Amino acid sequence: MGLRLGRCHCFCPSKAVNCYATRPFIAGIQTAMSTHRDTLYAKTLGDPGLFTFNSAVVSVFPDMIKRSVPGYGSVIAMTGLLAARHARPGTRIYDLGCSLGASLLSCAEHVETEACELVGIDNSDAMLNQCRANLANELPERKVTLIQADITAVDYENASVCILNYTLQFVPIAQRLPLLKQLRAALSPGDILILSEKLSLEPEAMNDLMVKLHHDFKRAQGYSDLEIANKRQALENVLVPETRDTHKARLLEAGFSHADVWFQCFNFASLVAVA
Ligand SMILES: C[S@@+](CC[C@H](N)C(=O)[O-])C[C@H]1O[C@@H](n2cnc3c(N)ncnc32)[C@H](O)[C@@H]1O
Repeated sequence: MGLRLGRCHCFCPSKAVNCYATRPFIAGIQTAMSTHRDTLYAKTLGDPGLFTFNSAVVSVFPDMIKRSVPGYGSVIAMTGLLAARHARPGTRIYDLGCSLGASLLSCAEHVETEACELVGIDNSDAMLNQCRANLANELPERKVTLIQADITAVDYENASVCILNYTLQFVPIAQRLPLLKQLRAALSPGDILILSEKLSLEPEAMNDLMVKLHHDFKRAQGYSDLEIANKRQALENVLVPETRDTHKARLLEAGFSHADVWFQCFNFASLVAVA
């Protein structure tokens, strides 16, 4: 079941499954992707408005997320491996906030075709339309169920793997525990939840350092200081990060037996929680 060379999961032009890990991500490499380059926040904006996953974001999303989230390619590639280890025949793999289908594609790469039903959920119709097109193109032979819904309003059942890659951070804090409880109830002992998030860190000085390093990363990917500032303002109170300890405590409260970080780069981490 090792990593096979195929298409990059995040729909960038790379031919490598794990483009982040297998190719050094050097400033300038992505300028070749001119048609899909994220320049949404390049202009001086009086008020950039709240960030939403609309059609403008969808058109640049692969470039945006790869140049904004350190470690994104590695997390997506390893999501498939984690899923394959825990997927049980006859169950569902849920991808909550599936966006363009990157995690679903990674799962399809590693999980036996007949073993599980792949289910992607997103409340953005622009995202889901493009996701549908991507999956029809990349996985024409595999049935994937796509549902347009708020992930807090779905009845989850018969799951063996649940994936929340960079999505819980957009859910209001009060709704996070009820959602995790629902997911835990849909899983059986030994099954997993993969939770990837932007973190806030403690103490404050460590948080400041990681935020600075994240901005250094974005600058190295070609974002200007203006773009970084505009995006930060647009995400204020939309993306609400929490600490690793808060996530771990909530996962235990939701009924998971143990949970810990399996990947971290600066202030972005991925946890695995075992039911
Ligand atoms: C940062 S993106 C996730 C990226 C994706 N998981 C990946 O790894 O490529 C967050 C996604 O979650 C979706 N989303 C945010 N809040 C949601 C909610 N309450 N219900 C359903 N989808 C939601 C957004 O539309 C967006 O597509």
